[in-house]
Amino acid sequence: MYRAPRGMQDILPDDQPEWHYLLDRCADIAKRYGYRRIDTPIVESTDVFLRGVGETTDVVEKEMYTFLDKGENSLTLRPEFTAAICRAYLEHGMASWPQPVRLYSIGPLFRYDRPQAGRYRQFHQFNVEAIGEADPTVDAEVIDMAGLLYEELGIPRTSLLVNSIGDEACRPSYVAALRDYFARHLGDLCADCRGRLERNPLRLLDCKNSVCQRIGDDAPRSVDWLCDACASHFATLSRYLDRLGRPWQVDHRLVRGLDYYTRTVFEYQPHDVGGQSTIGGGGRYDGLIAQLGGRPTPGIGFATGLERILLNLKKAGFEAPPPARPVAYVVAIGEETAADAVALAATLRRRGIPTAGPVGGRGVKGQMRQANASGARYAVILGPDELAAGEAQLKPLQGGEPRMVPLWRIADALTADT
Ligand code: HAM
Repeated sequence: MYRAPRGMQDILPDDQPEWHYLLDRCADIAKRYGYRRIDTPIVESTDVFLRGVGETTDVVEKEMYTFLDKGENSLTLRPEFTAAICRAYLEHGMASWPQPVRLYSIGPLFRYDRPQAGRYRQFHQFNVEAIGEADPTVDAEVIDMAGLLYEELGIPRTSLLVNSIGDEACRPSYVAALRDYFARHLGDLCADCRGRLERNPLRLLDCKNSVCQRIGDDAPRSVDWLCDACASHFATLSRYLDRLGRPWQVDHRLVRGLDYYTRTVFEYQPHDVGGQSTIGGGGRYDGLIAQLGGRPTPGIGFATGLERILLNLKKAGFEAPPPARPVAYVVAIGEETAADAVALAATLRRRGIPTAGPVGGRGVKGQMRQANASGARYAVILGPDELAAGEAQLKPLQGGEPRMVPLWRIADALTADT
């Protein structure tokens, strides 16, 4: 028996109402903040992610689905949106649009990770980017949008963690201090961290190993190494966040797993989940557009995993809106009425009435059972006698008296009743 690839899931019809509810909430909030939708291809040139996300990140080192197409071009299933959207910003000359360009996306992403609850190989994000503005008002806007989404969805008590990791002016001296610090504890670090110490010492701060974490507790803090411009940016953002009234705290260990971040980084974490606790995160990436070949252009964004949102909603007792039911179920009595029943169902659908049936080759009893199981409000029953009289029987399925209605009035009768 074939199964879906490991770490990838079907979204079955019964799951679609909650899925679409979530997509609608995300699109609604994006619109309220003035973000417009962009869809990029599911694959990109591998270079976009190598240069954009960074060669020493887990995403690029271990998790990309990369392949050669028949023209020997290296393509990668997108592991995230940000680099792809910056590629589109450059390709379509968005630098000449009013800045910042506010964009949002919703769609599937692919990371070859070890699957577990809340972590999949194909997952979906709601992702927003504001490209072309360096002012911290935009940082506050994006952070607020994410918080409001969780609040409106009813995810209880998420914590907002924020940090500033500096820019190309101040980061090098911070990274050097970090390297010095961890080098003094080399013998106690896990094998992964020993390997990462030279290439990417920031990564050591988010190692999950308990010994590395204890060592990380006393590591130098990025906020103590910020240059004046970064320190002022962070101080202003802090004021805005305080004024927005949403509780937040500085997390000195928060560095995020992608290399493009500068200055502001943030994450939302729900209170009562274990390993896969981060529900969404983002930050500023003021060097990314230049890294991809454009003129230096600041940007900030955020992404949240839709599967993780649903896990949290279910824990909080969320019930999906009930699945859509047909209004009418057309039942044909006898072979000779089948063609007219098919045409009647088609007419009702053209009039915008969700209609199921008829299904031929079954007796009236079997068809009525199906009509009831479909949850339809009415059975529209067409037999030889009804047909001869130019009528059909309209039978309410949730209680009420059946009545005869002329065929040409059925759509009106159903519309009047819905
Ligand atoms: P990220 O932290 O890699 O950031 O992913 C954001 C969110 O996507 C995570 O918090 C989580 O909810 C979800 N997610 C990530 N990996 C998985 C997975 N394997 N299975 C299920 N859910 C997952 C980014 O992707 C950045 N591009 C965000 C960003 C936008 N930064 C600036 N702009």
